[in-house]
Amino acid sequence: MRIDIVSCQPGLVEGFLSQSIVKNAMEAGKVTIEMHDIRTYGIGNYRQIDDYQYGGGAGMVLMAEPLAKLIRDLQARHTYDEIIYMTPDGETFQQKIANRLSLKNGIMIICGHYKGIDQRIRDMFVTMEISIGDYVLSGGEIAAAVVTDAIVRLIPGVINDETSALTDSFQDNLLAPPVYTRPADFEGHKVPEILLSGNDKLIQEWRLEKSIERTQERRPDLLDK
Ligand code: ADE
Repeated sequence: MRIDIVSCQPGLVEGFLSQSIVKNAMEAGKVTIEMHDIRTYGIGNYRQIDDYQYGGGAGMVLMAEPLAKLIRDLQARHTYDEIIYMTPDGETFQQKIANRLSLKNGIMIICGHYKGIDQRIRDMFVTMEISIGDYVLSGGEIAAAVVTDAIVRLIPGVINDETSALTDSFQDNLLAPPVYTRPADFEGHKVPEILLSGNDKLIQEWRLEKSIERTQERRPDLLDK
């Protein structure tokens, strides 16, 4: 899988890429992730990438020309199943979207900044718009890192235990059950007996029951889906 991230502040994502589970995935050849700086395609000696918005109003807008050039250069070299724009007015990111995207061969993620990008780039190139929640970040970079992380950990072999990602919260619209590790007794707080029983069938039943309980308590909306 290949992910190209287009940004005017690539440093914000580079730190994440060089530290996380994503780094291991890249080193293992499971995914190729490249950052692309819009500034490289900026106009004139000052490499201008943004301008005031037509019609007036505060805030700068990322210009169409540098973005279009960069996107077209990438399209000439690679094939993209989706070109995603990170924006608070996009579709809210969910596990099911991560599942779907993890099956793609190539995706491009465009990060906005300031007031966002010129609408014509959205109209001409973007195939999907994603928000990571109802709040406004200063740019799309952290949102792009969130989406990238959620996708990459689903690629088979990225997490040691292949079944691990499948038992996460939100797979099957259920929250994950509580988990425990050693010691069995921590300051008088004991691990539920059943987890020490070695009876796999009973343990699976217990986990499902706890998952349902936790979902009912915290996210009853998920059970309606
Ligand atoms: N850019 C700014 N805020 C954002 C959000 N909530 N989700 C995705 N991209 C964003």
